[in-house]
Amino acid sequence: MTDKLIIFDTTLRDGEQSPGASMTKEEKLRIARQLEKLGVDVIEAGFAAASPGDAEAILSIAKVIERSTVCSLARANEKDVRAAGEAIKPARHGRIHVFIATSPIHMEKKLRMTPDEVVERAVAAVKLAREYTDDVEFSAEDAVRSEMDFLVRVFDAVIQAGATTLNVPDTVGYSIPELWGNRIKELIARVPNSDRVIWSTHCHNDLGMASANSLAAVLNGARQVECTINGLGERAGNAALEEVVMTVRTRRDIFNCDCRIDATQIVPTSKLVSSITGYPVQPNKAIVGANAFAHESGIHQDGVLKHRETYEIMRAEDVGWGANKLTLGKLSGRNAFRTRLQELGIVLENEDALNAAFYRFKDLADRKSEIFDEDIQALVSDEGASHVSEHFRLVAMGAHSETGVLPVARVVMSIGGVEHQADSQGGGPVDATFKAIEQIAKSGTELLLYSVNNITSGTDAQGEVTVRLSKGGRVVNGQGADTDIVVASAKAYLNALNKLDAGIERAHPQI
Ligand code: KIV
Ligand code: ZN
Repeated sequence: MTDKLIIFDTTLRDGEQSPGASMTKEEKLRIARQLEKLGVDVIEAGFAAASPGDAEAILSIAKVIERSTVCSLARANEKDVRAAGEAIKPARHGRIHVFIATSPIHMEKKLRMTPDEVVERAVAAVKLAREYTDDVEFSAEDAVRSEMDFLVRVFDAVIQAGATTLNVPDTVGYSIPELWGNRIKELIARVPNSDRVIWSTHCHNDLGMASANSLAAVLNGARQVECTINGLGERAGNAALEEVVMTVRTRRDIFNCDCRIDATQIVPTSKLVSSITGYPVQPNKAIVGANAFAHESGIHQDGVLKHRETYEIMRAEDVGWGANKLTLGKLSGRNAFRTRLQELGIVLENEDALNAAFYRFKDLADRKSEIFDEDIQALVSDEGASHVSEHFRLVAMGAHSETGVLPVARVVMSIGGVEHQADSQGGGPVDATFKAIEQIAKSGTELLLYSVNNITSGTDAQGEVTVRLSKGGRVVNGQGADTDIVVASAKAYLNALNKLDAGIERAHPQI
């Protein structure tokens, strides 16, 4: 008999707290649909009280997701809990996740509350949350630095108030597996009625221990793990869903539990999240990195050819590598395109949006012989599935570079429908292009990051560019894809400007 391990995905909440990873409502919806397909049990869709946009995104996710529980985070106060309760109302299965800090440093310096006040607030918030749903999670923020006796007291009180899941977070990524496992074991042993609730863990990766600590918690009785796709999240990120799931599956000899994740959806989900957030996956990242199953040394290659298990503990195809077959080509028709979009979980607003995306697909097929799922994802993101209004729009551009001559670029773009043109020189064609855009846009933004990744392999692959811009303390990521990386760069820059223009940003929930 194996226990059920609940996979709680917080890519859309803690993951979104990564700098610049803010997503539009439509982008969140696309990821939520994919998370449902992946089989996560709980989708933490956002933090309703953080902004009206976040509340709206949770509401739309709650309306369409059927097989996963939809959850909103809430601080332990009436306004937050009510906002969360309203946002999850349409959900088939809805959860409110209430949190308050319990460590001396957080209580004294951040909350400026006494321990008694913290217990009182936690109990009141859980009771109020129970008026909206029977599924209420309570988190003791910074549990890692909280005193054990106080944690026992808080958890006892919130169980009596009606909490059904108790989450123990290592908010600052400070623990190590042995200590974390012991902490969970002691809490389960000491908290009265601990067998009536699900014990959960939520580990950050500041010392690179997030997945290991989460798994130590599972070995000691936790039956929910909070994690994110690609380990995205605040600062160094959270435990990576793919690492937790594949460890439990690969080491069934150690873990007496399993989850309902469809592992073949892991790589497609990783790619979607990476493409939407603009956070590339490092090549040597476990499970989802491009090199995770590549054998470079001759000895390894020889071994794998003779008997795969000499060097492979998992099969690439079991986690979704290679699943993205060659899907469409130049001769594919509109119906085939529509069907593939549906299979990929992409819902376009109306027939006009479909026509526009199909037109761009045909244009891409003229330049690129093989079109893969990743190309379609990028093309649809580009097409405006992110629903950021195109205040700044690229009309035409050209760039020239030649050895010994300073590169130049010409950009024609429209601002609010009015066309402008500028020429500029730069250190390279991308630099010249950005300078030409800035001559027109005069945005006053600071460029924090510029990165290019090829979406598929081959020199005719589309380049996917991420541009991170900051202005007045706000940080956004813009994406653009094209077979010409200078054009992709211009699109990414304009996408970031449009996001700044649309005010897409996020408040920090812990404040
Ligand atoms: O890291 C943390 O403590 C959190 C809580 C809100 C669960 O994200
Ligand atoms: Zn967190």
